[in-house]
Amino acid sequence: MSESKNAVSRYTTGARINHWITAVSLILLALSGMALFHPSLYFLTNLFGGGQATRAVHPWIGVVLFVSFLGLFFRFFTLNLWNRDDTVWMKNLGAVINDREEGLPELGKYNAGQKLVFWGQSILILLLFCSGLVLWDVYFAAFSSIDQKRLAAVVHALCAIGAILIWIVHVYAAIWVKGTIRAMTRGTVTRGWSWKHHRKWFRQEVGKH
Ligand code: HEM
Repeated sequence: MSESKNAVSRYTTGARINHWITAVSLILLALSGMALFHPSLYFLTNLFGGGQATRAVHPWIGVVLFVSFLGLFFRFFTLNLWNRDDTVWMKNLGAVINDREEGLPELGKYNAGQKLVFWGQSILILLLFCSGLVLWDVYFAAFSSIDQKRLAAVVHALCAIGAILIWIVHVYAAIWVKGTIRAMTRGTVTRGWSWKHHRKWFRQEVGKH
């Protein structure tokens, strides 16, 4: 089968640009945030032009991430709503990992793991943004007490750890399930990939044409 006949469209160019802006900003935030988090990681400030520049630029990258993720959120949230099949899939995760998916419900565009990544990042990025505003003294110092800033610092650090861990799982899964990365680079996947991993979605896509 020719390359183009075998390709199933999964993401528009707009969605992909939106996704990669989000990905790059999360990586830059993790690096600049770790630089500010602990003296042993201070050397990372070299990447951003020194300590003061890192402190200044980190919150602005946070604004980019927040706005960009909001775009992903509104594009994809309906496709990430939980349903009964997701609960069945989660309960049989062992079978999925061992490549014995036959007998499990056919999946729509996203599986339960992807949905958990989606909702996990949605909650954590919202918390990171709100706690970050409390810590952004240049503009908002007067709006919170010292105790509130201390609490915000703890929430901010814990949520950052959570978001980085979820990001690692997300990238690992994208590499581990072969044929997935091209969904976000080229915008298409193969018919075989779609049939194997997201059959219900595949049937809907084929039905459209
Ligand atoms: C280098 C880093 C990243 C890589 C390699 C990567 C890769 C991918 C790939 C291949 C897909 C398509 C999966 C599919 O259609 O089945 C995807 C989807 C997605 N990615 Fe990423 N990603 C990265 C970073 C991020 C970050 C930092 C976020 C958010 C904080 C993110 C949020 C999403 C969302 C929301 C989707 C759509 C899936 C859904 O809504 O459940 N990605 N990513």
